Amino acid sequence: MPSDDRQSVGRLQQAIEESDFAWSLCLIGEDQSHKLAALADDLRGGPSNTGDGKQITSGFAYWGIAPTVAWAHACNDPYYPVMQQSIESFPQRWRRVRAKLAEMPYHYVSLGVGTGSKDRQILHDLLTANPDLLYMPVDMSAEMLRLGMRESLKGVSIPRRQMVPVQLDFAIEENLVELRRLLEAVVGAEPILFSLLGNTMANFDDDVRLLGLLTRLLRPQDRFLLEVATTDELNDDLAAGAAEEYERSRAYGEFVTSALMHYTDLTINMDNVVYRGSVEGDRALRVKIIYQNRTGGDLRFMLPDRTRVTFPDRDTIRLYLTRKYARRGLDGMLDSLGVRKLHGMHSGLAAHRSAQPFGMNLLLFATGETTAARPPQTSRAEEIWSSYRT
Ligand SMILES: C[S@@+](CC[C@H](N)C(=O)[O-])C[C@H]1O[C@@H](n2cnc3c(N)ncnc32)[C@H](O)[C@@H]1O
Repeated sequence: MPSDDRQSVGRLQQAIEESDFAWSLCLIGEDQSHKLAALADDLRGGPSNTGDGKQITSGFAYWGIAPTVAWAHACNDPYYPVMQQSIESFPQRWRRVRAKLAEMPYHYVSLGVGTGSKDRQILHDLLTANPDLLYMPVDMSAEMLRLGMRESLKGVSIPRRQMVPVQLDFAIEENLVELRRLLEAVVGAEPILFSLLGNTMANFDDDVRLLGLLTRLLRPQDRFLLEVATTDELNDDLAAGAAEEYERSRAYGEFVTSALMHYTDLTINMDNVVYRGSVEGDRALRVKIIYQNRTGGDLRFMLPDRTRVTFPDRDTIRLYLTRKYARRGLDGMLDSLGVRKLHGMHSGLAAHRSAQPFGMNLLLFATGETTAARPPQTSRAEEIWSSYRT
């Protein structure tokens, strides 16, 4: 960068640093109109009674100010225990896992910042070892970044120039290549702690592929912190119990319908939100949350580009997907990705201790010794990844 440009960036940072106004600088990685087109395409899917046609995929469920605010409300709802307890019990679980991180000056990249309260805890500790750390929350939702950062910085002393929020869809391989490139340019070979917390992984159809993509960000000196919801057993009753856990919360229902309300002109009837639990092979309980046309007649709804979609009677729109992973399968999943587990920490969910074997696992891992599990090189993106893996 020419020195004049560097000076202007420096002056801008200084002006922001000295201002009392709540400015935040944010790097936007993608054209948001393309994202809107992708969301509209997903909502044009064919008819299905089971939530396998029209859908709102992960990321879009939180995208925009209304879903962001609805998510923050749901996280505080005592009737939605998964997230509330995941947030409340995080400091204690993190404290144990933290002891397994080498005393290194890590930078911190938070994949999916959410309400930011877990990041606050992590930042607090990492800053002690590395006051110069770079904090890079990455999220598809600019509004979530703004909200999450406000929370993550409460009581944490970090100059604004060390915070770089990035609006990016991390489920796209090319985006991760660019993220890696950006990190290399900013922190060089210094170690980075990446996190994917709050069972975010479970929201993706191809969850293991997503985790595989994200773990490619790791160099030998880096670490990855993963939090997933777990179950000790798999059966249909537990699957129904897992679905009920979400169904109980009105605030969660408002969150899960928020994107549909925001991006279509459908009049939402909460009685048409259906929570379906099932067993996904030997690996997880899966909960699909769908919106079903139960009016007895065909409907039509309008998308943001003013096109209309027919929504026949009994047709569905999948609003959200989540899972509880079989605890005994987690190590195998990490092995299949070629990563090395350094620590795993399990805790039960208080509300279910007596009744249901549900909990949360916090896993810390590093890149493995081999790259045997990585898929063969197929794309330009893969060639670029390889050049980082030295
Ligand atoms: C379940 S919340 C978890 C929030 C937080 N990590 C926690 O544990 O409380 C998922 C977060 O990931 C973000 N997210 C979901 N899919 C994404 C994607 N494909 N790309 C970027 N961010 C995504 C959402 O906007 C949201 O902030």
